Amino acid sequence: MSRPFYVTTPIYYVNDVPHLGSAYTTIAADALRRFHALRGEDARMLTGTDEHGLKIEREAKERGTTPTALVDDVSAKFREAWPHLGIEADDFVRTTEPRHKAFVQDLWTTIEKNGDLYEGAYEDWYCVGCESYKTEKDLLPGNVCPLHPNKGAVERLKEQTYFFRLSKYEKKLLELYAKRPGFIEPASRRNEVISFVEGGLRDLSVSRTSFSWGIPVPGRPEHIMFVWFDALANYRSVLGHGELTRYWPPKGKAIHLVGKDILRQHAVYWPAFLLAAGYGEEALPTQVYAHGFLTVDGQKMSKSLRNAVDPLRLARELGSDVLRYHLLRAIAFGQDGDFEHAALLERYNADLGKNLGNLLSRTLGLCAKNTGGLVPARGELGPLEIELETVAREKSRESAEAWEAIAPHRALEATWEISSAANTYVDRAAPWAEVKKGDTARLGTILGTLLAVLETISRMIWPVMPTKSAELRQQLGLAPLTLAQGTDHWPAAATALPVGHPLAPTGSLFPTYDKDATKALLEKLVPKVVTAQQPTDTATTTTTTTTATPPTTTTATTTTTTTATTTPVEITYDQFSAVDLRVGIVLTCEKVPKKDKLLKLSVDLGEAAPRQIVAGLALTFQPEQLVGRRVVVVANLAPRDFGKGLVSHGMLLATGPSEALTLATAADVAPGARLK
Ligand code: MSP
Repeated sequence: MSRPFYVTTPIYYVNDVPHLGSAYTTIAADALRRFHALRGEDARMLTGTDEHGLKIEREAKERGTTPTALVDDVSAKFREAWPHLGIEADDFVRTTEPRHKAFVQDLWTTIEKNGDLYEGAYEDWYCVGCESYKTEKDLLPGNVCPLHPNKGAVERLKEQTYFFRLSKYEKKLLELYAKRPGFIEPASRRNEVISFVEGGLRDLSVSRTSFSWGIPVPGRPEHIMFVWFDALANYRSVLGHGELTRYWPPKGKAIHLVGKDILRQHAVYWPAFLLAAGYGEEALPTQVYAHGFLTVDGQKMSKSLRNAVDPLRLARELGSDVLRYHLLRAIAFGQDGDFEHAALLERYNADLGKNLGNLLSRTLGLCAKNTGGLVPARGELGPLEIELETVAREKSRESAEAWEAIAPHRALEATWEISSAANTYVDRAAPWAEVKKGDTARLGTILGTLLAVLETISRMIWPVMPTKSAELRQQLGLAPLTLAQGTDHWPAAATALPVGHPLAPTGSLFPTYDKDATKALLEKLVPKVVTAQQPTDTATTTTTTTTATPPTTTTATTTTTTTATTTPVEITYDQFSAVDLRVGIVLTCEKVPKKDKLLKLSVDLGEAAPRQIVAGLALTFQPEQLVGRRVVVVANLAPRDFGKGLVSHGMLLATGPSEALTLATAADVAPGARLK
């Protein structure tokens, strides 16, 4: 029986459609599943949707529908989206399914019997965005949740509740982290969790009585289970019967991939729930791996931007393999990263077109001309061949180690080092010179070596680029990889193809985009930048981050939205550095009487006193939505007098039409930090 490998994604809230953030985790999980399947392991992947809770109940109300209709509709969108990104999950869990509900209720009953649930009353702040209670120290000034700043102040909740004795597990969890250092990865995140637990755990409120969209507590239906108690159990609830029980307790690995924002729930609550239900340490997941957050073209993903950056659209334009490759190669897993459209195309041209694609065309072109399109026999290997084969062997080992350590970016880097080395080899071995000399034996050795390396690469790219792997193999005259449990398909070394085997070139694997095609594609893909032309009284208060159009004091009286198509004027670095861009935190914000579009803010810029800034943000934001938010401020703009003593001492950066602005921001940076 081969080693079970179980990988999960978070289950996604159904108040949103699949976006680049959810696609990122799900692609990473699928690539991991594929790597382990390639190794002959019994690999299984789970994803799904998180369908209960106040957030969903409210979203349904806002959309004028029922929670059931909403969750059915959006859950289907997730399920249907993933195959378009090359994702083949083995199971898709919905928390509204009977199989899940039954397990969660059992889990509750067991924990209650074990004495770790008790009734009481609870009062604290609650962030509906996080579906979690918050203490004051978790919040920004104005009681704003740092993870959901645009939702305004969090709510104060007081209700009858069941508590889970989380405090009882403080010591056990710390022992677990010490005993199993790999339980939380990466290490920086592990340290954060350890400090959090060392700071003392409070018992956790795990039921709510003020809404009804959730799983009722057995025997006390007026209590609805805390959505995280319900959701976390998904990883286990779907493995309850028959064959599936072999994945849990994990005999091989059971890995939860999660975003850094939900690490605490996975690394603290989830193991504590399992321990409380009588699961031993061996029946806990083997690892919780927290990845970073993606920004898009330098901006935090917002709902409007998410819609514009639709991963399915990118996959349609470029192929899902290309998107998968870029996401996993460009961003070091575990760290925050920026998804940049231009970088995607640059990388496509460089790594895929000019490197691997070119290697294949060169090799197959030479074979077509000189070996009748058949795999040639190799003669004695010379130093150049031995060097290339050593690179292939070592990089394939390094790549496998990187996959094991959940570092797809390093795994791909190692894979591409083989391709680069093979391109260098072509130049050094100069097969065209052997053609001239008529040395067919040497030519056969060179081409045979290149074909062996290409076959190696076709296996190594399969976890990330399954379609391109099959296309590459097809051009080599080979069938797509078919996996069998217990058989390791990862290449330990480059192995020559059978002599006389017919090759089947069909054209470029990755046709490159020239300058014009790149420009046209970027225009199609990048969300259009719109700039809000302000009426006179709001001029200079907001502008766009993405054009260099100076703030205007135009006398235009209409508020129009225009697409920024003008070419920005070029400025020198000195001119740019004369602009003092600083990070600020909004301390207070209020409407300006008789000015529909203006808000008056006081912003902490790390100076002795907060700055007063007047900005044309009122068509997009309610004042309370801005309190606590990090903003980017032009701090050395001449003050602007709006009359009656209303002076603005700076300007906020934003983009979008005035009724749908997105503010420029900078996460986790102290007020006053300079952007340069
Ligand atoms: N439903 C909970 C998870 C329950 S798991 C038992 C939840 N759902 S979510 O839909 O809000 O988020 C799901 C995942 O998407 C999280 O891991 C989150 O980190 C990730 N991402 C959301 N936006 C993201 C980016 N901008 N970048 C990367 N991942 C991001 O939380």
